[in-house]
Amino acid sequence: MEVVIVPDAAAGGELIAEAMAELLRRKPDALLGVATGSTPLPIYEALAAKVSAGAVDVSRARIAQLDEYVGLPAEHPESYRSVLRQQVLEPLGLEAKAFMGPDGTASDVRAACEAYDKALEDAGGVDLQLLGIGTDGHIGFNEPCSSLASRTRIKTLTEQTRIDNARFFDGDIEQVPHHVITQGIGTILDARHLVLLATGEGKAEAVAATVEGPVAAVCPASALQLHPHATVVVDEAAASELKLADYFRHTYANKPDWQGI
Ligand code: PGA
Repeated sequence: MEVVIVPDAAAGGELIAEAMAELLRRKPDALLGVATGSTPLPIYEALAAKVSAGAVDVSRARIAQLDEYVGLPAEHPESYRSVLRQQVLEPLGLEAKAFMGPDGTASDVRAACEAYDKALEDAGGVDLQLLGIGTDGHIGFNEPCSSLASRTRIKTLTEQTRIDNARFFDGDIEQVPHHVITQGIGTILDARHLVLLATGEGKAEAVAATVEGPVAAVCPASALQLHPHATVVVDEAAASELKLADYFRHTYANKPDWQGI
């Protein structure tokens, strides 16, 4: 995997947005896998700015959801469908038909999970999947010890993740659902390019385990080591536990200009 250390979150957002723009210039109907949480916001802002400036046309882009709470109505402000409508679709001027995601309100959750994996496959697969990382190393909502071969399925959130996410529910952990549907790690690894952004000191330990630790289900993000095209973009704070930071800086500074991430 490639590790890119950027000065701050805005620089990470710009770098990744440019990679997405570059993809859309090559493949205008690319399927972009998007993530929720605080981390990807600079990416969405930078991409929307490029659209406003006429630097990229996203009108044919397609958007795929990574994970969703189980049981929150689609119109609930914290359902990830609502969050992505507000943070991605509307700023990019995309309509609901450009969007695909699992049905968190389905009575048959298992069937909804299988249907989503099939829908992703039928859509030609995800071209570029954005990922955040949990303080416990989760990607999507694949919590520690998730099978590295897992497909889209229901998961039970750890207490730590519910604590981390309570900030989106008026600080009230009781309102944070216990269950989610998440693309599995195997599903995520099917995407053609994985781009993980991590910012802030709180992510430093998880980033070090992901990049420099063994491939191990206890750190789900370490599965990125198995992918032929995975890029981990970190700010200085999130890079602070990396032993090989100088090596990563050197290789990125000296790579061929045409290569991109
Ligand atoms: P965050 O969430 O970007 O809000 O820190 C990341 C994640 O849980 O995947």
